[in-house]
Amino acid sequence: MRAHEAGALHGDLGYRGPAWLRTPEDVNALVPQLWPRTVSRTEAGSLEIGGVNVADLAQEHGTPAYLLDEDDLRSRCREFAAAFGDADVYYAGKSFLCKAVVRIIQEEGLFLDVCSGGELAVALKAGFPAEKIGFHGNNKSVSELSRALEAGVGRIVVDSFDEITRLTDLSKKSNKRPKVLVRVTVGVEAHTHEFIATAHEDQKFGFSLAGGAAFAAAVKILDEGVLDLRGLHSHIGSQIFDTSGFEVAARRVLELQAQIRDARGVELDELDLGGGFGIAYTTQDDPSTAGDLAKRINKIVEGECDLANLRKPRLSVEPGRAIVGPAVFTLYEVGTVKDVDGIRTYVSVDGGMSDNIRTALYDASYSATVAGRRSPAEPMLARVVGKHCESGDIVVKDEFLPADVRPGDLLAVPGTGAYCRSMASNYNHVPRPPVVAVRDGASRVIVRRETEDDLLALDVG
Ligand code: LLP
Repeated sequence: MRAHEAGALHGDLGYRGPAWLRTPEDVNALVPQLWPRTVSRTEAGSLEIGGVNVADLAQEHGTPAYLLDEDDLRSRCREFAAAFGDADVYYAGKSFLCKAVVRIIQEEGLFLDVCSGGELAVALKAGFPAEKIGFHGNNKSVSELSRALEAGVGRIVVDSFDEITRLTDLSKKSNKRPKVLVRVTVGVEAHTHEFIATAHEDQKFGFSLAGGAAFAAAVKILDEGVLDLRGLHSHIGSQIFDTSGFEVAARRVLELQAQIRDARGVELDELDLGGGFGIAYTTQDDPSTAGDLAKRINKIVEGECDLANLRKPRLSVEPGRAIVGPAVFTLYEVGTVKDVDGIRTYVSVDGGMSDNIRTALYDASYSATVAGRRSPAEPMLARVVGKHCESGDIVVKDEFLPADVRPGDLLAVPGTGAYCRSMASNYNHVPRPPVVAVRDGASRVIVRRETEDDLLALDVG
């Protein structure tokens, strides 16, 4: 994540926001890289997505709501599949998963990465072919592993010696030989928020390369011969813009591959370099296209294979955010506008940290625009906050909104397709918003709005 530092105070005019914010004249403008591809501002001034006006969507489905641009999502799936060619592209379901999305990614030819029994259940329920599923997790339970074996999940990414023992026992009992990858912790310090970096030594995922655990795990699996070791896996973190981390990861994993070959005479066929490709949340973020990423990653792997004198393994990647993140914006309604004298204006919306925890959790930056009209008013620096009982309940830290923003205005926050609905909570017993897919002038609810009755149904007294 690119941490955007808050700007300095400017004389006695008060806080003006970080220097990267859009220029005030742009207050009605939509910066294309931030918005789903079918989104535009109509002549009349309101936003449209998939050919449907946001005012109509708000009326039909209520706010807050996650609005998914189905054409945008499909086009990103296709771009990744085409760019990576003969590599397998696993959509990382943790970013956002529901049955409709499972069907879309299947129709668009992707594989699927799941990391819990729940995600596996959604995939199987939607009819996704088990052999195209990769199963992750640092603490898969016996029940989860049994279900994966029974379903015939294509790859299980093993993450600990305990799991190897557990899976080996289950495989023997059920007379199955699952295909596995060994997750390797390559020791890369990815340039992202520490909570979403996953390849430095001091964290819970994978087998350490430096400490020799990764080599020992691979050799153990080969020597025991119960599990079918297909290859190695590395995921260095999330919201990464700089491919140098992938380069170091590929080099280290391929060196390990050469070491395994030299020790056991086995050249592993597969290499999974994980996901983590960054997207634009603000005008300052400049993400690579799928084509660029594929070119660079293929070149890195080919180069490293030459150096290690290995044949190029079958490659796979696991993008989540880069596929679904930009395809969605959250539509809120403004409830209150509060000017805190000389500091900033707080614009409260009808959702907040329960539908987007990323600002509070990772200090993430977002953008926003008034969605229901074009405003002639002067720009005003605002902070968009939610309705939760917590002062850290911030959706957008800094944004120029028109000075006439008022209760009843619709407000759109783009880039919320990944890790917003999937990390949503019921904090303060606020029901979770629906996900509405929009395409060709029509909308359909793919995840319905939670109700207070849903919440009470769990509360069995
Ligand atoms: N593969 C593995 C093994 C992963 O752990 C992840 C993400 C991905 C792929 C997909 O990464 P992506 O392409 O979506 O960046 N909640 C955090 C992100 C956590 C990511 C966890 N693993 C956030 O909101 O930024």
